[in-house]
Amino acid sequence: MSNNSPIGFLDSGVGGLTVVKEAMKQLPNETVYYVGDTLRCPYGPRPVEQIKQFTWEMTQYLLKKNVKMIVFACNTATAVALEDIKKTLRIPVVGVINPGARAALKLTNNNKIGVIGTVGTINSGEYVNAIHKKSPKTDVYGVACPKFVPIVESKEYESVIAESVVNEALATFNGKNVDTLVMGCTHYPLLKPLIKKEMGEHVQLIDSGAEAVSEVSMLLDYYNIAADAIDEEKQHEFFMTGSKKMFEDISLDWLNLESISVNKIMLP
Ligand code: DGL
Repeated sequence: MSNNSPIGFLDSGVGGLTVVKEAMKQLPNETVYYVGDTLRCPYGPRPVEQIKQFTWEMTQYLLKKNVKMIVFACNTATAVALEDIKKTLRIPVVGVINPGARAALKLTNNNKIGVIGTVGTINSGEYVNAIHKKSPKTDVYGVACPKFVPIVESKEYESVIAESVVNEALATFNGKNVDTLVMGCTHYPLLKPLIKKEMGEHVQLIDSGAEAVSEVSMLLDYYNIAADAIDEEKQHEFFMTGSKKMFEDISLDWLNLESISVNKIMLP
């Protein structure tokens, strides 16, 4: 059995593209439908109830497009809304926190793990919970980096300002001796060269979204719903609530595509 319906991805903005990039690599047969709520991004500083509401609206939008699975390509949405929404859906829903936590536990040698994320993700304590559930003695240091997402959304991720913002935020890890750092926000892999430079070669970086794609791949097999071949007619579709132009620029840059189909939408 196979299923050629699209897989839905959602994020507050362009961050989920880092997950899509990995999905296109690992799962080239699959069609991607992506919703980015760029108009209301960032979600990180918003109240929990509002993040839940916005995430629910994106989920509804994807369900109407008959997706076969939904990936919360957003740590903030995963942290506050995944469990509630998952219970109500009949299709598989994948978040990015458990895969990120699992990868960190696999890589750490000294049991000192750093996590960077939005205020919403860090305050939720979901990374600490996910890591301690498996390994209670591991030290987890969470640091919120609220300035990172606006830098990425405005395509400033290679700028001098970005470098100083990253350096300032990561200085918090001085003396903590973490050997593994989870990029617990899907926007952050766009800042990876700067994060790597500041943390040093000895610290291993984990891309929570990329890790989640391995889980997606496994679930496609488990439910027997993987697409069976590359469909030349298929087209990835990107749905945006904010500026089409900025999204197109960032996605063409990041995904290395020649063209992209971006549609402006309204939520709910
Ligand atoms: N990309 C998101 C995440 O992984 C959300 C960023 C935001 O909107 O604050 O957390």
